[in-house]
Amino acid sequence: MEVIRSARQLRHRLAGEGSIGFVPTMGSLHEGHLSLVREARNQASCVVASIFVNRLQFGPGEDFERYPRSLEQDVAHLASSGCQVVFAPDEAELYPRPQRVFVQPSALKDTLEGAVRPGHFQGVCTVVMKLFQMVQPQIALFGKKDYQQWLILREMVEGLAMPIRMVGGETVRATDGLALSSRNAYLSVTERAEAPRLQQRLSGVAKAVQDGADAAGAEREALSVLQQHGWVLDYLTVRRQLDLELPQAGDRALVVLAAARLGNTRLIDNLEFTLPDGHHGS
Ligand code: PAF
Repeated sequence: MEVIRSARQLRHRLAGEGSIGFVPTMGSLHEGHLSLVREARNQASCVVASIFVNRLQFGPGEDFERYPRSLEQDVAHLASSGCQVVFAPDEAELYPRPQRVFVQPSALKDTLEGAVRPGHFQGVCTVVMKLFQMVQPQIALFGKKDYQQWLILREMVEGLAMPIRMVGGETVRATDGLALSSRNAYLSVTERAEAPRLQQRLSGVAKAVQDGADAAGAEREALSVLQQHGWVLDYLTVRRQLDLELPQAGDRALVVLAAARLGNTRLIDNLEFTLPDGHHGS
């Protein structure tokens, strides 16, 4: 496996490769990322992963500076997961000048995560577009833990007619249900023990709605339980999988999404679920 720092060397290395499967990351890799790498291996002849902590997608006061960085360990994990090329540019390689050209995502950028983190998805789309230009993959893989990011990037690729097949990977969880995330490293021992409650409450909401409960009532109950255990919620809401709009009567493919702070750590999670036939809808 090679670690490449410059876009010029990357193009040179990838010239003539049959099919390229690409996994963009910000490093601090866990099993969620590595499962995407393994899936890329099944679908492409050459697997490229990028490691770049993208300043553009962090707002003022967010955790850009303290975001965990562990290049050496990441490279070892990628090598043992079947990755062939790691692209690990520094900031001057991706942003040689202050970035003045941006990818503007659809209005999906303004809801949920976007409402709390203005500019976040523009930063994500801009860096992913630049990385796509540098890597020129046929297939790109993203985890669905970042559900809204996944929808927005899929829409970007489709809306800009980019010849890339987008593959979404299911969220990988610890045995106690906590979604794996680089930010879990911030949790204290006590917070880590509390953290699975977020996923438990999401399952509770999904089950209640599938059993016929009103979504708003189920959301309120989950919110109250989480608050009682010290969580500060940004949102916890049932939406349609398609476009994250509020469900209308007849919508069956739903997702419950949440973002919440435990101490100084902000966690997000989601759970897709389907209403059974004959369900009266929301
Ligand atoms: O999901 C992430 O890790 C990042 O948002 C991404 C897609 C690598 C862009 O920086």
